[in-house]
Amino acid sequence: MKEISLTGIKPTGDLHIGNYFGAIKPALELAKTYDARYFIADYHALNTMKNPVELNSTIRQVAAGWLAAGLDPEKVIFYRQSSIPEVFELTTMLMAFTSKGLMNRAHAYKAAVQENNERGTDPDAGINMGLFTYPVLMAADIILFDSDVVPVGRDQVQHIEMAQDIAQAINANYGKPVLKIPRAGVQEYSAVVTGLDGRKMSKSYGNTIPLFAPEKTLRKTIMQVVTNSQAVEEPKDPDTSQIFLLYKLFSDAEEQAALAARYRAGGMGWGEAKEELFRAANRELAPMRERYDAIMADIPALDKILEQGAEKARPIAAATVNRFRKAAGID
Ligand code: ADP
Ligand code: TRP
Repeated sequence: MKEISLTGIKPTGDLHIGNYFGAIKPALELAKTYDARYFIADYHALNTMKNPVELNSTIRQVAAGWLAAGLDPEKVIFYRQSSIPEVFELTTMLMAFTSKGLMNRAHAYKAAVQENNERGTDPDAGINMGLFTYPVLMAADIILFDSDVVPVGRDQVQHIEMAQDIAQAINANYGKPVLKIPRAGVQEYSAVVTGLDGRKMSKSYGNTIPLFAPEKTLRKTIMQVVTNSQAVEEPKDPDTSQIFLLYKLFSDAEEQAALAARYRAGGMGWGEAKEELFRAANRELAPMRERYDAIMADIPALDKILEQGAEKARPIAAATVNRFRKAAGID
């Protein structure tokens, strides 16, 4: 039997090519080797997103984005966290085995307290219980589906360790393996995609190339990639060019060698280099954009896909909760 992998996706909206190459594409690869499950962590997003219109639309945008990028809902399980009531039942049960001290040590909570202390405000100012108990909800997401591997970035490893601690405490209490102990699958080499200005591409830096922007916008954005002031005739170094770095994401080795030779020969200006980047990017992104637009044009159909995913997920979830309830004497 294949191992189970589980990927939680926070619906934070406005997907960019950094998200695509750094997170979406590698996560979709997992479906080849694992029994893969993907879910939109919408109740996690509620901790920070209080605008209903915004949250409602980012949930759909992100779900449509993953489908457009190639997630096949027939082959994997794809659902919304909020459609699985067992997540919250399990969260309550896990709470009984989670020491408050463990939550006090969570990085995100500690950082928020430290920020308040530095500002001289009340240490708990602006911190809701959702943030404080975030690791328990995440542990429930993971444990509910008997996950073996949870692929995450370095910042999330602590959360996986907490899920392990909580599950182990439960198994130790009942003297049997009631819950499966998950492990983190850290992607050591997950490359950092750099943005228009050469820094890490990030929403918070405003240097992103959007994944599903219309062709015209994509072209306009690519024309904003920073360059030096070398003239057209001058030979250029592809290895230090931000344009070339981005070009590599969208081309094969042969194309890269050919374009690198044109950089080095001189006679190609930055405008032309950007045109080449646009052509390569658009070649890969255009079909995805078309799929995305088609999905977003039929939200009821999208919701149906997510509902069908939840229908596949719920029996698995119910089995875990029942196993736990039985072990706990609540059956
Ligand atoms: P942002 O920095 O734009 O807010 P998020 O924090 O929402 O992006 O990132 C969502 C996922 O995309 C994470 O798994 C993260 O590792 C990945 N990711 C984001 N930006 C990049 C990037 N520039 N290069 C590689 N991966 C990225
Ligand atoms: N905390 C994760 C993030 O910020 C999202 C997430 C929620 C998650 N629940 C999860 C990831 C369960 C993996 C498994 O990206």
